[in-house]
Amino acid sequence: MGSTFIVLYLLLQLIPEANTSVGICIPRKTVKYQTGKKNTFMKEGLSNVSTLLVNEESDTLFVGGRDAVFALDLNNISREIAREYWFATQERQLECIRRGKDKIRCQNYILFLHKINDSNLYVCGTNAYHPTCDHMVIHGTNVSLQGRAEESRGKCPFEPTLKYASVFVDGEFYSATSNNFLGTEPVILRSMKNPVRTEFKTSWLNEPTFVNMEIVHESESSPNGDDDKIYVFFTETALEFEFYDKLLVSRIARVCRGDLGGKRVLQRRWTSFLKSRLSCSAPELNFHFNIVQDIFLLRRRKWQDSIFYGIFSPQW
Ligand SMILES: *[C@@H]1O[C@H](CO)[C@@H](O)[C@H](O)[C@H]1NC(C)=O
Ligand SMILES: *[C@@H]1O[C@H](CO)[C@@H](O)[C@H](O)[C@H]1NC(C)=O
Repeated sequence: MGSTFIVLYLLLQLIPEANTSVGICIPRKTVKYQTGKKNTFMKEGLSNVSTLLVNEESDTLFVGGRDAVFALDLNNISREIAREYWFATQERQLECIRRGKDKIRCQNYILFLHKINDSNLYVCGTNAYHPTCDHMVIHGTNVSLQGRAEESRGKCPFEPTLKYASVFVDGEFYSATSNNFLGTEPVILRSMKNPVRTEFKTSWLNEPTFVNMEIVHESESSPNGDDDKIYVFFTETALEFEFYDKLLVSRIARVCRGDLGGKRVLQRRWTSFLKSRLSCSAPELNFHFNIVQDIFLLRRRKWQDSIFYGIFSPQW
């Protein structure tokens, strides 16, 4: 019930959007780049920034880039508080090059930063096509890796430019990415606690490009004991249409947080996995926006009032 509501709501939100003219899309906030106060942070050793994490309690902005995590002052991001480098070892890099990847990609791209508590971050990097996660300890103006690195396939992509999505909820890590070096095994996985994943079958996921993942706490004050849901947004190659070319469709998939997998062959496989097509179109123009580019969840106090906003583009 809860999930149907959200999907429909999203569609209803999007279809009128496509009909209205651009003129009435007034941004809530506009910041001119040229004028006004702006702070920048540029530093030798900081490149390929791919993840940001705000910690409001300590007024810190964590920045994950290639081979490094920087901690910046949230009130003035030009001020660096701390940094920690995390390089792939020489052997890893050589192994990566030997397997045919170019040197620049055989580095450690930090793609995931998550706050566990005020003194601990969970950090994942591609680690020269050998995805790895570790804990990072924050101690005053010092951040350091704990050296508890663990191999993390399925949690973090192998490929630094691959799109992926993940959320961390109370010690459970949900991720949507590729599970192997070649990028041929897409997976939506829960790890760390109660591991469960999708089946490697094209009917579950077919060459997906993941865009976002969100948790909606639908169990909150639920009279019928509804479960929390994880929603995953992606584009994939449609199996349901016969077409002379690859036809892409946007999808929303959901799994239930309480799902512990099935029995026998379904052990450690989602039993609550559902997916549905997301359709965004301008019918009067006969125009279809097949590709979901981004999704943002505007959370409200009551989850029923929360709204997903999506950006879609046409395939051709
Ligand atoms: C990292 O950044 C450099 C410089 O902008 C760029 O040439 C390179 O392609 C980037 N690497 C990846 C994997 O995105
Ligand atoms: C923060 O989390 C880490 C890792 O789970 C744990 O070892 C540590 O005790 C926690 N610290 C606090 C202050 O809760």
